[in-house]
Amino acid sequence: MSTYHISDSKLDPETTAKHYDSWAGQYDEETVTRLHYTGHNVCADAVAKSLGGSDRGKVRILDVAAGTGLCGEELVQLGFTDIDAVDGSQDMLNLAERKQIYKRLICDFVGPNRLDIENDTYDAIACCGSFAPSHLKEDCLPELIRVVKPGGYIVITFREEYLHTVEDYKDKLEPTMARLQDEGLWERVSRETFPKFYEDKDGITFVYKVL
Ligand SMILES: C[S@@+](CC[C@H](N)C(=O)[O-])C[C@H]1O[C@@H](n2cnc3c(N)ncnc32)[C@H](O)[C@@H]1O
Repeated sequence: MSTYHISDSKLDPETTAKHYDSWAGQYDEETVTRLHYTGHNVCADAVAKSLGGSDRGKVRILDVAAGTGLCGEELVQLGFTDIDAVDGSQDMLNLAERKQIYKRLICDFVGPNRLDIENDTYDAIACCGSFAPSHLKEDCLPELIRVVKPGGYIVITFREEYLHTVEDYKDKLEPTMARLQDEGLWERVSRETFPKFYEDKDGITFVYKVL
């Protein structure tokens, strides 16, 4: 199973999670080794840059749709130690757990539903590779904002062309981001595209500061 299969049609979150459950064992090999996936590196670097001179041993980070923990591993390499993970696929999280990088692993869907996390818990969210067909949608953004402290950051990295090709995002994702800024919930720090998100596909990274 691979993302290509998942991309084909519109699936409910439970079905997407089942696809990832069956893909979990091959995920790291397929993405990093075969597709030369870089999203986790770019996202982790953007989190580190956003947090600037903060004490990396003290800041709390939530890896959203963390999968097998590729981004968490990068964050640990960068000196961060207090990292939690949330993902809808238990089998992806089981692999992440073996890497011993996350303090708390939460198996839940990220959407408009309330996560089992207090308000203003994290200094930053890292979310990479998780805006894709039948993955996260714009309706999860208020919930992400809720769990980040005022002054904290939300970093979202994904394949750039999905902004224009995925029905759920076209005329929806960026307008929602802008509306949340108009409502005073967050403000955009940067919006940067980069080459080789994987193979020849461009990526995009949004950094927002929670207000
Ligand atoms: C392409 S993987 C990315 C994983 C990891 N962030 C990375 O960069 O390797 C997408 C992940 O999103 C998770 N996912 C997709 N839709 C989700 C949802 N609605 N709620 C929670 N997790 C979801 C999948 O289970 C999968 O682990």
